[in-house]
Amino acid sequence: MDWGLRNRLSRMIKPSDGHSVMLACDHGYFMGPTRRLEVPRRTFEPLVPYADALAVTRGVLRTSVDPTWEVPILLRVSGGTSVLHEDLSDEGLTVEMKDALRLNVSAVAISIFVGTAHEKQSLLNLAKLVDDGEDRGMPVMAITAVGKELEKRDARYLGLACRLAAEIGAHMVKTYYCEGFSKVVEGCPVPLVVAGGPKLNTEVDAFQLAHSALAEGAIGVDMGRNIWQNDHPVAMIKAIRAIVHEHASVREASDLFEQTKAASITA
Ligand code: 5RP
Repeated sequence: MDWGLRNRLSRMIKPSDGHSVMLACDHGYFMGPTRRLEVPRRTFEPLVPYADALAVTRGVLRTSVDPTWEVPILLRVSGGTSVLHEDLSDEGLTVEMKDALRLNVSAVAISIFVGTAHEKQSLLNLAKLVDDGEDRGMPVMAITAVGKELEKRDARYLGLACRLAAEIGAHMVKTYYCEGFSKVVEGCPVPLVVAGGPKLNTEVDAFQLAHSALAEGAIGVDMGRNIWQNDHPVAMIKAIRAIVHEHASVREASDLFEQTKAASITA
């Protein structure tokens, strides 16, 4: 791996422990003004100090992220369909590498849709992005997207999708946590982070997800809705950060969440 690419990766994946808390705020690229991400800056500004990377599109980056902030940027560069379409897999590349470089981002992210009508197209998009990324020193994250078929998230499917992404050359993969997740990790020779998915019933469910994923080999999370759709998003990201970087147990994360929440209420 070339120096520039390693340097960019190490901005997001902390060299001290090899872990990362990425804050996912790119949902608008196909979902529009998602609940509690209606005004992106209002959502992520209080959370950025606790994030090792911020995942956004270039439109939100240019309009809503202060260029003086130190947070590394994970730039979403795939898209082309909206939530109104039944089939979300018909994506192309939405940003050229020269613009990602101009924006000085730390990595680019693209969805792949394994097992869909547009599987080949999305995998070839990834291959092109990896070629461009290797050429210019830009890490590429592949996201094993499932569109509206959330039930696809099992170890067999995710293991296949993650492995394909790594074989094509992705430098890291974002996937979902699932039962048997350690098998997914075992078969994927590049770092894995997990998404949170739609908001879970309780905070503890989100802490359990992050804790289990880390215990089974993920290097961190790229989490969105379970943080910023919570009534106490700062308390959520602090608790998730404790799991990822401080080996906090689910109980310790819950205690930290409650303490931060109580302090913010009395402040
Ligand atoms: C949106 C994405 C999200 O970044 C990803 O799903 C993580 O966010 P969440 O934790 O809300 O699932 O890829 O398309």
